[in-house]
Amino acid sequence: MIPDSFFEELKYRSDIAEVVGSYVNLRRRGRTLNGLCPFHSEKTPSFTVYPESQSFYCFGCGAGGDVITFIRKIENLDYMEAVRLLAQRAGMAVPEQEGDDRTAKLKKRVLELNREAARFFHQTLMSETGKPGRAYLVKRGLTRETVVHFGLGYAPESWDHLSREMRRRGFTEEELTAAHLATRRESGGVYDTFRNRVIFPIIDLRGNVIAFGGRNLGEKGPKYLNSSDTPVFKKSRNLFALNFAKNSSEKNLILCEGYMDVVSLHQAGFTHAVATLGTALTEEQARLIAQYTNEVILSYDSDGAGQTATRRATAILEAVGLKIRVLSIPGAKDPDEFIKKQGGERFRRLLEGSHSATEFELGKLREQHDTATEEGKVAFLKEVAVLLSRVGSPIEREVYLSRICRDLGVDKAAVQAQVEREYRRRRGADRKREERELTAGKPKLRAADREEELLFRQEPRKARAEERILFYLTRHPDSWQMLQKMLPEEALLTETGRSLYRALIGRFAEGRPIELATLSAELSETAVSRLTGWLVTEGVNVTREEAEDCVRCLNEAAGQKTKEEIGSSSEEDLLRYIEAIREAKDKKGE
Ligand code: GTP
Ligand code: MN
Repeated sequence: MIPDSFFEELKYRSDIAEVVGSYVNLRRRGRTLNGLCPFHSEKTPSFTVYPESQSFYCFGCGAGGDVITFIRKIENLDYMEAVRLLAQRAGMAVPEQEGDDRTAKLKKRVLELNREAARFFHQTLMSETGKPGRAYLVKRGLTRETVVHFGLGYAPESWDHLSREMRRRGFTEEELTAAHLATRRESGGVYDTFRNRVIFPIIDLRGNVIAFGGRNLGEKGPKYLNSSDTPVFKKSRNLFALNFAKNSSEKNLILCEGYMDVVSLHQAGFTHAVATLGTALTEEQARLIAQYTNEVILSYDSDGAGQTATRRATAILEAVGLKIRVLSIPGAKDPDEFIKKQGGERFRRLLEGSHSATEFELGKLREQHDTATEEGKVAFLKEVAVLLSRVGSPIEREVYLSRICRDLGVDKAAVQAQVEREYRRRRGADRKREERELTAGKPKLRAADREEELLFRQEPRKARAEERILFYLTRHPDSWQMLQKMLPEEALLTETGRSLYRALIGRFAEGRPIELATLSAELSETAVSRLTGWLVTEGVNVTREEAEDCVRCLNEAAGQKTKEEIGSSSEEDLLRYIEAIREAKDKKGE
């Protein structure tokens, strides 16, 4: 265990205003400092630093916590790594820790192994053994320069090409399996994970080789194989080629589905292309993107799956405040194929003409209505008015509207009036809601993941009750005994809520105060953000009676769908379900 005194000293020497100030332009406003949030993109500052409590909170995206949480989020580190970075900055030595030391050592070894493996795969590709790999890459139109730039490699059809060499260089079987470069055999020993594949090394923003993707050259096995999560790699937090794209001078990023798309695009000069690592886009990746740009051009495959993925990605990117344009790729399956067929110049023109997310939605609406009939026209225009009322820029609204009215041969003025009415109505409602939330200083309810989001929507009463009871607990530490008796942990709605309840009661039972810096060691980032939100909330009070109501509400039998049922339905079902609810809700709101 690292002694508390170390953390106290570390916090004392890591003033939050100073640390945050080196990443964000802060302005003093009374007792707080304000700036543009680094975790989502915004034009008016809602990111606040509280020097008195040494915490930060963003009223826009709900990110919050202490100085360690801030470093974790912005540098994409785990808790101890963030502590080490801050200690380094403050010129302090981190006390040795047994277990910790072991994981730190393993991480270091895995990174070394990855680097040597990447080099070895690359050498193999360039050697006699690498002929099939080179032939494949040439067939796919890659130049030698590109191959070297990305450090592409080759794993031959062999069970031990890599592991034999890495063992010879002193790496152990444990290290090889931890890196997901080898798989353990039941009969003992290990065999290479990547065989008969072209290798794409995945490099993080510090230049570490953190994982690999491998494209199959044969028929056996999946087309692509990606490292699963390892001590140094989390799929959901990284993007392929962001290490290059972050240096591009373009003001936006192109987001694709595949490694080959990215490599082809970079070769053609579009060095601002990145891709997810064989999974759907995550919220963490969206936040990562928002740190580098405020606009994303979605360039997914043109097939049905790609279009579904586009819609899903749009929602995730919008949630962190990114502007979105959607590229449609005519006559080709994906960007790689398009460039091969039509060349980079044509792709540039596609980019220039790429549609905004609005245009993408307009296209879909148009398909849903038969605009040849009067009724169809009216129904279509009604939906258009609602859609356009969400577009913030009057000029943009005007442009779309002119075009649609010209296409349909209808009078613009009438539709325009309708759009403006919708727009004012929506603006009024939005502003009122924002005002309510801000004047009450009340953070919005935010879900940790899709499952929690679903719970929030399914059980709005319980969601509010959970939020209020936890808030009450932060304001009335002495209520912990009463709550422990009346409200079992399982009665809370979300895992985040339960973890906070556990942590707070544990703390109060020991007579200790709420301490963000030590609490953030045991809580998830979402939990720390929620907690910080309550701590910085002013002018809100939950009475004892209200607290008791919340306890009763949470203790009521669970709603129609239990957590187990939700857990067992597939991700697709879940998504459809959320979308259905959202649509129903949108309809009601109109
Ligand atoms: P090429 O055929 O090499 O051009 O691949 P692609 O990038 O066009 O492939 P596709 O559109 O099928 O897949 C896009 C991305 O999804 C790939 O780059 C991989 O990251 C991932 N992917 C594709 N196939 C598989 C698979 O079989 N398993 C896994 N885990 N990921 C895959
Ligand atoms: Mn492809």
